[in-house]
Amino acid sequence: MSTSTSLVDAYLKANPETRIAISRTLQGSLTDGTVLVDRHLKPMIDTVYAQIRDLVGPGQLTAGQARMYISELSVFARYNAAYLRQATASVASFCPALAHELYRNFLEEGGEPGKVPAHYVLYSAALLSDLDLLVVGHVPAAETLMLMSLHERMVNSHQPSAIAGGYYATEGVAIAETEILREITDQYGEVTVGMSGSKLEKLDFYYRLHLDDDHEAAQVGGMSVEAAHIEGLAHFLRKSELFHLDLAQALTGFLEILKGMEEWWLRLVRRAKDIA
Ligand SMILES: [Fe+2]
Repeated sequence: MSTSTSLVDAYLKANPETRIAISRTLQGSLTDGTVLVDRHLKPMIDTVYAQIRDLVGPGQLTAGQARMYISELSVFARYNAAYLRQATASVASFCPALAHELYRNFLEEGGEPGKVPAHYVLYSAALLSDLDLLVVGHVPAAETLMLMSLHERMVNSHQPSAIAGGYYATEGVAIAETEILREITDQYGEVTVGMSGSKLEKLDFYYRLHLDDDHEAAQVGGMSVEAAHIEGLAHFLRKSELFHLDLAQALTGFLEILKGMEEWWLRLVRRAKDIA
């Protein structure tokens, strides 16, 4: 499958100030993590994911196309908790504070006894219950395996800063990805059972669990589960010097994961075009 123009590369071409900031960070002359995150990385994520959403076009998908996206997107959810636990172990001796943040995310995602069950269990059961859709055991397509492979390497990195940056990318896109996924399951619901939104009860619970500020699962004041994950990771990049993290290495991890995810989406868009 040929690779089309990267959305990240196109963004950097159109936004020279961000291209320069990235270049300076990688060369060690820009060391202000707050400037990097808030002026450059956040706007880039927002723009790239708005473009991805338009390329997917959730409202125009056929049942077959929507099912393909739902199945492929479910694979990351399947391994998410295991990745978080490995990342925790990889950084534990170097940066206990980062390990603590990743472990908190792991417990939320993997299911803490007495609290909300593992998210993948909730999600895959909700798909069965609301849409009669089986994703458990789905064998991932090549592009999904490509993303899993990049993620696996990141969580096993010998560079804790690269893990901080890689996870900032992973969590930084999580709200946008969850919103796209909700639009896709809504579309699948409409074309198959004539229902969407809060009428798909179990899925609605799952999405609100991640996106609502006042959901019972939200444990950090005033923030949804996903927003707390994003801000939790962003903190380590903004205050990289305090945590003895190397901002250039963090940016390396960030770009490897963001570009990997972007490429994954673009390949899924191409795959969807071949499905009736
Ligand atoms: Fe989750």
